Amino acid sequence: MSVVPIISLDGVSRVFGNNRALDNVSFEVFPGEVHCLLGDNGAGKSTLIKILSGVEQPTRGTIRFNGEAVAFRSPRDAQTYGIGTVHQDVGTIPLISVSRNFFLGNELTRGWGPFRRLDHANANRIALEQIRAMGIRRVVDADQLVGTMSGGERQALAIARALYFGAKILILDEPTAALGVKESKIVIDLIKKARAEGIALVFITHNATHALTVGDRFTVLIQGRAASRFLRGEKTREEVLNLMAGGEQFEAATHGD
Ligand SMILES: Nc1ncnc2c1ncn2[C@@H]1O[C@H](COP(=O)(O)OP(=O)(O)OP(=O)(O)O)[C@@H](O)[C@H]1O
Ligand SMILES: [Mg+2]
Repeated sequence: MSVVPIISLDGVSRVFGNNRALDNVSFEVFPGEVHCLLGDNGAGKSTLIKILSGVEQPTRGTIRFNGEAVAFRSPRDAQTYGIGTVHQDVGTIPLISVSRNFFLGNELTRGWGPFRRLDHANANRIALEQIRAMGIRRVVDADQLVGTMSGGERQALAIARALYFGAKILILDEPTAALGVKESKIVIDLIKKARAEGIALVFITHNATHALTVGDRFTVLIQGRAASRFLRGEKTREEVLNLMAGGEQFEAATHGD
């Protein structure tokens, strides 16, 4: 584990009107680690990742990349720092092919000037190679529509795509939310694989079992505040579940009444 986080938030707040979506939150992500971001609906999880991925800007506080203060003006800006975000639903588009989806926004072309055109053959080959490298073997045709893939396979496609285009920090917003047990396992295994390759991961989930299976570091947001920050092994499953539900019992217990 390195000493300096690759990316961190330092005392970040984000206010929408008079709604304080994030209140003085510090959050750090290290290469080769999974940082689980937990919290109930409306706790501020998506706002936090929007700030990390350049979609929203903080009202106060600092974003640091390898310790240096940075400002992300747009998602493109964040991408140039190696931040790849896989959103739960918008990561893949169902009615286009696997390979079109893989190269969407980064189209592979050949030729030059007026002779430039899409290089389908290479795009298909690379897309299939990359998703196979993720352990997805059932997809054999890169022209097949994304809509024919299972939920786990689509997540794998989105993860493969982010990594292929240079993500060093991978942010996954509820990647297992709509998935069954087998499909979730595909995604959990991919998270482990990316971690083993030194990628820094942020994993948002409502599922305590998934979080405890892969998490190295945990932050629980409650009403915009980082109510609890801890490392693997520091809290029991019951304590984690309690915090995820809003932390009422936990807070009562720590206040000694
Ligand atoms: N663009 C916005 N304008 C106004 N309020 C917003 C905006 N984005 C988020 N909020 C508010 O900020 C708070 C935190 O929202 P956020 O989406 O970050 O929560 P979340 O933890 O991701 O919830 P969920 O688990 O339901 O996805 C909510 O009260 C939400 O209504
Ligand atoms: Mg959300």
